[in-house]
Amino acid sequence: MQCLLLGGAGFIGSRLALRLLNNGHAVRILDIFDPQIHGDDLAASELWEIKSDQVKISVGDARDSIAVGQALENIDTIFYLAAGTGTGQSMYQIKRYTETNVLGAAVLAEEIARRRSQIRRVIISSSRAVYGEGCYLCSEHGRVFPPSRNPADLEAGQFNPRCPICAGPLTETSSKESDHVQPGSIYGITKFAQEQIMLNTCHALGIAAMALRYQNVYGAGQSLKNPYTGILSLFSQLLLQDRPINVFEDGLATRDFVFVDDVTEFNCRAAESSLLGCHILNVGTAARQTLLDVVLALSAAFQRPAAYSVSGQFRIGDIRHAAADTAMLFQTLGQHTFVSFQEGINRFAAWVLQQDLEADANSRYLKSLEEMAGMGILRGAKATRAQQIQTPWLEKK
Ligand SMILES: NC(=O)c1ccc[n+]([C@@H]2O[C@H](COP(=O)([O-])OP(=O)(O)OC[C@H]3O[C@@H](n4cnc5c(N)ncnc54)[C@H](O)[C@@H]3O)[C@@H](O)[C@H]2O)c1
Repeated sequence: MQCLLLGGAGFIGSRLALRLLNNGHAVRILDIFDPQIHGDDLAASELWEIKSDQVKISVGDARDSIAVGQALENIDTIFYLAAGTGTGQSMYQIKRYTETNVLGAAVLAEEIARRRSQIRRVIISSSRAVYGEGCYLCSEHGRVFPPSRNPADLEAGQFNPRCPICAGPLTETSSKESDHVQPGSIYGITKFAQEQIMLNTCHALGIAAMALRYQNVYGAGQSLKNPYTGILSLFSQLLLQDRPINVFEDGLATRDFVFVDDVTEFNCRAAESSLLGCHILNVGTAARQTLLDVVLALSAAFQRPAAYSVSGQFRIGDIRHAAADTAMLFQTLGQHTFVSFQEGINRFAAWVLQQDLEADANSRYLKSLEEMAGMGILRGAKATRAQQIQTPWLEKK
């Protein structure tokens, strides 16, 4: 395949590029190298170093029709990864997120339409953010889809969504591709618009397309510079610099963490398949970890105590629980054994320890929290309890 990875210098794109090369495909990247993700010096970026001799990398903007048109020359397979990715930040940088994610999709769609006979397949990196709070089970009403949580409830420490019909308690369950789409953030709205613009265009042009709705992707190569997203990067840096970790809400929100190699595996399967038509698939493990599980797992992996506070603070736009229903994924692209959370965290921690962590990571992180608080996105009680975690490793000592 002749592959273009739009936004391919980022976390997932870089790993995908290496995998595609290994599989014998040609790889080209168009990426704006957003300094929030990559820092200011491109040549110093690990992502740049890994690939500049094997991959044709162009620095350019996905919103620029000329740059996208040039990058598409002789390409038959497109991986569309370029996006602004910070859920909290998207709630006040609304124009920027809409331009990057939605206008960018429109530009790509038009350029594809100009080359309809040349493009064979488009793989879109979408997000579980399109589901918003996602699916829950009510003992009375079965599968229900609560709307975004009310800030007043969150202020009062009521973090769990209630049944939208009877206001009764709910049990979290996984989201299916056919579930209601009701994004709870500008990021989620733009990701839905992005996948739909691409799927609609490809459907009209008779081009095969697949939107992969990722859960929380983690692993080696994720940005350690971006303070707006990537909970594992943020927590790791705080932990390694002996800074307190601010765990939002009551620490019991859950996420489905999927290792980056599993995500690139499904991207490759999607691109290399002979499936025609347009499809939407969840990509996640179906397992859940609480935020406190994450702190403990990192503490164990780094063999360091972690000071954390469960702050009761919350971000408007954050969801409570998330996990993928993987039945359709396996049925469409084949069975797969995911990297376990324990194994993935160990691999991630080993990679982090090889990186030069920047001394100002904490101030950058605090500044991002201040910025979000100033915009009314980060709210809630100050620390409700503070604790020093003793990992089993420390107890043995
Ligand atoms: N990482 C996750 O947990 C996760 C979860 C769900 C969905 N996704 C989606 O996967 C994709 C890749 O995410 P990632 O984690 O690798 O993020 P990332 O921030 O590491 O990579 C995104 C890349 O897009 C580039 N980019 C941003 N704006 C651009 C523009 N206007 N023109 C060209 N390039 C631009 C950035 O420079 C960056 O290299 C995104 O579309 C994201 O929404 C990621």
